[in-house]
Order: sequence, then structure tokens, then C-alpha cells
Amino acid sequence: AFVVTSPCDGCKYTDCVTVCPCDCFREGDTMLYIDPELCIDCGACEPECPVDAIYYEDSVPKEWHEYIQINEEMAAKLPVIVERKSPLAE
Ligand code: SF4
Ligand code: F3S
Repeated sequence: AFVVTSPCDGCKYTDCVTVCPCDCFREGDTMLYIDPELCIDCGACEPECPVDAIYYEDSVPKEWHEYIQINEEMAAKLPVIVERKSPLAE
């Protein structure tokens, strides 16, 4: 599955959600998460993120490895987001 990592935290550009064919994105207060149960590894979301927050699970930078588990845990308890919103970042 693809994984949302640290650069999303505090940004939430939400460009990523509009391209996902499987409605994988879940919205938290400060960042989004991808539900690994639903992600089909299409890769469509990765280039959409202006701050390069999205990585394939095998390519997540070492310092952000914890986000693989965080996405799994948080996605399970948060609501789906499929429409773009105003970002938190300027
Ligand atoms: Fe959705 Fe594809 Fe991104 Fe997975 S890789 S979250 S299916 S757009
Ligand atoms: Fe976050 Fe990038 Fe999507 S900042 S909301 S992963 S477009």
C-alpha cells in the first residue's frame, strides 16, 4: 500500500484524494491517512502531493517508517475523504 507521511501533517493539501479510484483516504485533524486494506497500489496519488508526503510502503524514508503502522491504525477509525478542501498550510 501507499503511505501518507510527515510532510502532510499540518498541510492537508488534499489534492491526493480526488485521484484515488478506491476512496482510500481518511481524514484526521492535521493529516490524511491511506487505508492499506483498500489501496490497490495504483500510484495515482503519489505525484499529486505538492509536498511529496506519499510513498509506496517499501520506499518510505527510514525516519518516517512509523507512518506505515500509523496509517493502518488511524485509517481504521477515521472518516473517508473524497473531496478536496482548503489546505491547512498557506
Ligand atoms: Fe488510492 Fe492508488 Fe493512492 Fe492507493 S495508490 S491510495 S489506490 S490513489
Ligand atoms: Fe497530504 Fe499531500 Fe494529500 S499534503 S492531503 S498527502 S496532497
